Amino acid sequence: MNVDGVAYRSIWINDDGWSIDVIDQTRLPHAFEVRNLQNLGDACIAIRDMVVRGAPLIGATAAYGYYLAMRKDPSDSAMQNAYSRLFQTRPTAVNLRWALDRLRDCLESLAPGERIDRAFVEAGRIAELDVETNQSIGIHGLEVIKQIAARKLPGENVNILTHCNAGWLATVDWGTATAPIYMAHNAGIPIHVWVDETRPRNQGASLTAWELGHHDVSHSLIVDNLGGHLMQHGMVDLCLVGSDRTTRSGDVCNKVGTYLKALAAKDNGVPFYVCLPSTTIDWTISDGKEEVPIEQRDGTEVSQVMGKLPSGEIGHVTIAPEGTEVTNYAFDVTPARLITGLITEAAIIEATESKLASTFRENSLDLT
Ligand code: MRU
Repeated sequence: MNVDGVAYRSIWINDDGWSIDVIDQTRLPHAFEVRNLQNLGDACIAIRDMVVRGAPLIGATAAYGYYLAMRKDPSDSAMQNAYSRLFQTRPTAVNLRWALDRLRDCLESLAPGERIDRAFVEAGRIAELDVETNQSIGIHGLEVIKQIAARKLPGENVNILTHCNAGWLATVDWGTATAPIYMAHNAGIPIHVWVDETRPRNQGASLTAWELGHHDVSHSLIVDNLGGHLMQHGMVDLCLVGSDRTTRSGDVCNKVGTYLKALAAKDNGVPFYVCLPSTTIDWTISDGKEEVPIEQRDGTEVSQVMGKLPSGEIGHVTIAPEGTEVTNYAFDVTPARLITGLITEAAIIEATESKLASTFRENSLDLT
């Protein structure tokens, strides 16, 4: 996607030919800065501190982190160490495990001397696969938007609500929930996006609004609690969100607050679709509420807000009494029964175990 007319991905190989560059998402929207990753520690810190974030990008960064670890030491013990250090960075997005398993499985039978080149190639494949996958999600999701547009008056907007950032910054390119949005915009369909600010870290305000603005997509930033009101008043035609982990029965774990939007959508008859690559399906679990590990993050994310100060500096302000106890679960689970459909790279399917299995397990798209 474009940043001031220049095409970017969220992760790429530096001009030196071996190290990895990422956009520092902790600085957006106030500063566009590129961070260079040169070793395993750099990659772990980037994921843990959310320099990079979003399930698919976490997976791609982990893959490149594994490759960087191999550059230093391609031994069996270094492979194990790289796996466990990267695995511990963030617990909820299952793409992390998927990418690490894929790297480990393709490297373990190789002689140590062959591992560096192979890891580099495999990490690149993971990144490319993500871009292709998201394009396919976009093509399928575009049909949903077209159907809604067909029921509108000429020139009338299709109003889409999204939560958090499931945009190109959360993936390698295109995004998941934003891929249909960008494709609809590129096709000339009038759309307007309601962007949930997404407390506590405000990925909607800082990242989604930034992305959409750079692509000239009409949007309004809203507080997280406004969605229900907008839906009651017929101001939302469609909800599109992403997923950090989808169970084999179709429960979706995504950024905290997604569940409340799904409830409001159900109550108001608003279609609620989850856009997800099959890499976010965790075939080992069924009950999202009971089985997905929900990340709990530092309380300062809630008691403070990061932004641009009047001096122009980027800083934090405290919004709660000093010492206030904070609970900060970063994700929640939307049960499959609240989901209109899953927009995947293969097709739009019902959020059910049988549909997920028949789409991804019984044909050549088995990516587990
Ligand atoms: O904590 P984050 O910013 O990594 O959470 C990101 C989300 O919840 C996204 O909606 C999800 O990863 C889907 S991204 C395509």
